[in-house]
Amino acid sequence: MFSTLLLAWYDAHRRSLPFRGTRDPYRIWISEIMLQQTRTETVAGYYRRFLERFPDVFSLAGAPEQDVLKCWEGLGYYSRARNLHKTAKIIAEQYGGQFPRNRDALRALPGVGDYTAAAVASIAFDLPEPAMDGNLTRVLSRFHGIREDVGMPSVKRRLADLARQDMPPVRCGDFNQALMDLGATVCVPGTPDCAACPLRPLCDAFRAGDADLLPVKAAAKPPKEVQLSVALVLCHGRILVQQRKEALLNGLWVYPLIEASTPAGIEKALKSQGVSACYREKLGDARHVFTHRVWQMTIHLLTAEEPACREGQFVSLREMDALPMPTAVRSAREQARTLLTPAFPEDFDLAAAAAVYAQSWQQAHKAHCSDDFIRQHDAAHMEMILRGHRGDGNRVFAITVGPSTEGVLVIDPRENELVSLYLHPSAQHAGIGRAAVRFAIRQLDEQRDMKVTNLRANTAARTLYAACGFTRIVATKTLDPQRDLQEETRVRPGRY
Ligand code: ADE
Repeated sequence: MFSTLLLAWYDAHRRSLPFRGTRDPYRIWISEIMLQQTRTETVAGYYRRFLERFPDVFSLAGAPEQDVLKCWEGLGYYSRARNLHKTAKIIAEQYGGQFPRNRDALRALPGVGDYTAAAVASIAFDLPEPAMDGNLTRVLSRFHGIREDVGMPSVKRRLADLARQDMPPVRCGDFNQALMDLGATVCVPGTPDCAACPLRPLCDAFRAGDADLLPVKAAAKPPKEVQLSVALVLCHGRILVQQRKEALLNGLWVYPLIEASTPAGIEKALKSQGVSACYREKLGDARHVFTHRVWQMTIHLLTAEEPACREGQFVSLREMDALPMPTAVRSAREQARTLLTPAFPEDFDLAAAAAVYAQSWQQAHKAHCSDDFIRQHDAAHMEMILRGHRGDGNRVFAITVGPSTEGVLVIDPRENELVSLYLHPSAQHAGIGRAAVRFAIRQLDEQRDMKVTNLRANTAARTLYAACGFTRIVATKTLDPQRDLQEETRVRPGRY
């Protein structure tokens, strides 16, 4: 009777969900793991993307764990992703790619508990296993009038036994999913919509009038609050990230999380990890609630001269975006993105820019110029050159990343030419040069041919300009025949 009423209701009212309509145990398993702690609306997008990236158990088994975590980014409870990966390997290597068709073998797989084993067994293989999640627990405790704490193992067992008795001999997966849908849409927590319920004629709680008080649950312990400082340590266009070794968020990447809260305390904690950083400012607050913990965070900006750290690494914006990072540091990551995005002010501290210009120029030229000549190109000399550019009608920009000046850019609008681009040696190969060339192109006239000149020996510059469309070499000039030192001028063809 119970299952007849329930399945008739399900046939008319089932939710249309993206993970329905398949008997493929791989897909069912993925969806059930995702759904363990996450709302169906959130799961939909992740499920689609995950299956596009890992369409079968072999593709998942063969992927690096970091790729799996990246695909899981934002879903939370990351041990699910790590276990998913382990289970995929077991299925691929020990089961020849076929999921076992019984509850106990499924239950033995990493990350597969009673609920998931029963969900896969019933939905994929039509086995009579009740998938006891929060929805089934609520519906069945109301229906059968169970008025004891549903967190107690004995009560859990009793509810599972009752579900097993209610289960039909066929359509076991539909039976479980019907109870889930009923629990999610009609027999909801708090005040249920009993008028819409197919089980109302037989429901104990409806008869007794206490459905809104069920199920009985012991009050949960409030999560423990922890104060943390999130250190955004910038070093010449890169930022320090560390991979978590702790059980919570294991394997994911975060910024240094420090218990100390004062500038001196944060610097000291970083120092103990081999990072010499200088405190700059507080950027904001953030809060993240886990099941058993609350992180109350303050986000701080620091800068370092050397990209040295015993634990972790300094990464560019693009590298940071490729790492799996938890939602807990989302606000910090947004701040980091803003900080790491280069800016090109025209109104800037000329002396600071000239100092960086000198360092970068000296490094670029030291291999082919005399020591004296290199020494002459000091900060004071470069400041004079920058002033000269301005006097000549060129436009001079500083290249800044966060609070630091990392380079200079000079363009000549009349000649439609990118005249100079110099980056601090440590700020190279972090995508900043490319952003600067793109910026320069936008300032110049894209309709006309655009020029740039570089040393032939400077392969990084050649690659960069070629990638930005400066493809045609129109002139070469020999600076020093004895050293085979040549300059080449290349053109980015205009649109006309
Ligand atoms: N929650 C977890 N698994 C589900 C399923 N298969 N259908 C609906 N809700 C669910």
